[in-house]
Amino acid sequence: MQTIKNLMLVALLMACIPAMAESQEGKMKQFIDQLMAKMTVEEKIGQLNLMPGLSATTGAEKQADLLKMVENGQLGTIMSLKGVDKLREAQDIAVKKSRLGIPLLFAMDVIHGYETIFPIPLAQSCSWDIEAIEKGARITAKEATADGLCWTFSPMVDIALDARWGRIAEGNGEDPWLGSRIAEAMVRGLQGNYGKENMMACVKHFALYGGAEAGRDYNTVDMSHIRMYNQFFPPYEAAAKAGAGSFMSSFNVVDYVPATANKWLLTDVLRNQWQWDGFVVTDYGSIGEITKHGMGELQQASVMALKAGTDMDMCAEGFTGTLQQSLKEGKVKIEDIDKACRRILEAKYKLGLFDDPYRFLDPNRRAKDILTPEHRKAARDMAAKTFVLLKNEGRLLPLKKQGKIALIGPMADNNQNMCGTWAPTAVTDKYISLKQAMEQALKGKATLTCAAGSNFCADEWLHKFGGFYHQTPFMDSERLKQEAIAIAKEADVIICAMGEEAEMSGECSSRASLELFDVQMELLKELQKLGKPIVLLNFAGRPTVMTWEQQHIPAILNVWFGGSEAGDAICDVIFGDKVPSGKLTVSMPQTTGQEPLYYNQLPTGRPVAEEENMFQMFMSNYLDVRNDPLYPFGYGLSYTTFNYSDISLNGRTASVTVTNTGDYDGDEIVQLYIHDVVASISRPVKELKGFQRIHLKKGESREVKFEITDDLLKFYNARLDYVLEPGDFEIMIGPDSSLKNLKKTILTIK
Ligand code: NOJ
Repeated sequence: MQTIKNLMLVALLMACIPAMAESQEGKMKQFIDQLMAKMTVEEKIGQLNLMPGLSATTGAEKQADLLKMVENGQLGTIMSLKGVDKLREAQDIAVKKSRLGIPLLFAMDVIHGYETIFPIPLAQSCSWDIEAIEKGARITAKEATADGLCWTFSPMVDIALDARWGRIAEGNGEDPWLGSRIAEAMVRGLQGNYGKENMMACVKHFALYGGAEAGRDYNTVDMSHIRMYNQFFPPYEAAAKAGAGSFMSSFNVVDYVPATANKWLLTDVLRNQWQWDGFVVTDYGSIGEITKHGMGELQQASVMALKAGTDMDMCAEGFTGTLQQSLKEGKVKIEDIDKACRRILEAKYKLGLFDDPYRFLDPNRRAKDILTPEHRKAARDMAAKTFVLLKNEGRLLPLKKQGKIALIGPMADNNQNMCGTWAPTAVTDKYISLKQAMEQALKGKATLTCAAGSNFCADEWLHKFGGFYHQTPFMDSERLKQEAIAIAKEADVIICAMGEEAEMSGECSSRASLELFDVQMELLKELQKLGKPIVLLNFAGRPTVMTWEQQHIPAILNVWFGGSEAGDAICDVIFGDKVPSGKLTVSMPQTTGQEPLYYNQLPTGRPVAEEENMFQMFMSNYLDVRNDPLYPFGYGLSYTTFNYSDISLNGRTASVTVTNTGDYDGDEIVQLYIHDVVASISRPVKELKGFQRIHLKKGESREVKFEITDDLLKFYNARLDYVLEPGDFEIMIGPDSSLKNLKKTILTIK
């Protein structure tokens, strides 16, 4: 009886939900209608204006100007201002001194953590752990909102195929399917249901920013619509469908028109096709850049941006500077301004700021919600899942906590660089270095010696190119090397902590060569000559070329930039308390010249078989390197081993039995790839369409099933219709994307 009552109650509630949602919408609309009826044109344009905050770099005079703008209703959003006190001061002015008391939005680039820093996004994607990624985003939002923020410029979901592009570090790698699942998880984690501990997400950079030619940041992008829809758009669309509150347009052109001024992109695709109803902010200053793209002065650029569907101007002052004039001249209509203003007010409404402008400005939250032991543990667990074991000859890893261990390299004792790029809110002094973590892990068990061994790169290199980002003081390189060799000679095992400095990937950090820097390479070669076991920990925000290392170094663990807890997490893995499980979400090339390199490429008319070792005349290959990557997409070793049975196909269900055949309990990421054998357009050689992260005890077997739904077989055809074309589909399941490791079968769809 009770159950029936419960069921009836649920049914009643379900029936009410659409009506409730409608009435919420209705309430919001009515509220905003009433507010907008009172607003002057200047106040409306003020809501479209985003300016950088009153940071240390901004002079007192500028700060006063900014607050004056808030008071005059000329500014609706402030970014990059940290600390509840400062934010409250600005909010007080907005709410108490401006004519209509419209609250401010406070934004920040909170990308992979606030003060508890998680691994860089590229690393997180290598965990393939969607739940953990969502949890990380939730923690990030909790910390950021505890410090007064309510809007983050995250997630970055740009597909990136070229490792030269520094911003590959900020995304989820090369795969649209995995990228889509992560995009949704990030939106869910950050935004939740717009509670007090959630912040509004901003999906960026719309669109195709990762397609920058030659991997040079801010460079031109030119691609077919078929490719956009099938390969680059899916993560943006997934994030839109997951309900992201805002989108950021990208710097680049799309079809020869800057994204910020591109009506097809921002209105036809984003709003009309995807039925998305949030607001669009530009990237930093990009309305001004429309001028540099050669499409007119600031006034014209602002008109184009607004008409295209841009709602908020980040720091170009194009909207505040010119829209009133354009309105007078009839170049824009008041309806255009109203539309944008309404969308921004809706965002403020959804965030609950009209109910309580101080909702996120609770001075007591910081002490209890930021950098808590629980958050740090989550970041440590996540970091351990992101490391990718690339090689482990003779099972050198895990190391025993015994004997004499030498830790060598510029990342050995460098807590300042552990977080990687885009962690402006990190408090690096509170994080420990790898050396400090290792001292704790080995205490009373093994002897640890440590030396930097080399600078990150040659002095000349940095002065000419990357000096802007350089954070680690230069030392006498010969002396560094000799110190390192001296301790290495005494050691039983050498751990090399080498790679990039934190900001050598990320924005404006493109590189034309992807190897370890010369000075580090020299040191590594000297150490290798000593004939001792070496473990290389590669710190990087992008794929590194490690062809020499693969040939000469027995164990390589790619640790990316693991965040505030990276030191402990690395110890967890290299000393065997945790078993590595990360798998690459980007192809690692044999040489830089292979870039852009990605697994889901189209076949050519002159294909070279993946297994082919030799150069083939008049086929699609290079004279000097094979086509395949050094380490393929999806690849990563464990301390244990897994065996895959053949695929059994039952209707639309494909399954394999995976067995842990090694000596450790461990996690495996079982991957499903599909290839459309014959189609109306050329289709990729394989595409990831599913995966499962499973835990198997040693000796344990598990059947892993994948349901091949229509959606997994569909694609955008030449007319951009999303279709399933009947016929044969190759179904492949295995531990990574390389053909030799995949089990295969054919599914025929009638
Ligand atoms: C420029 C970057 O492209 C974007 O990712 C970031 O969110 C904005 N600056 C704001 O800092």
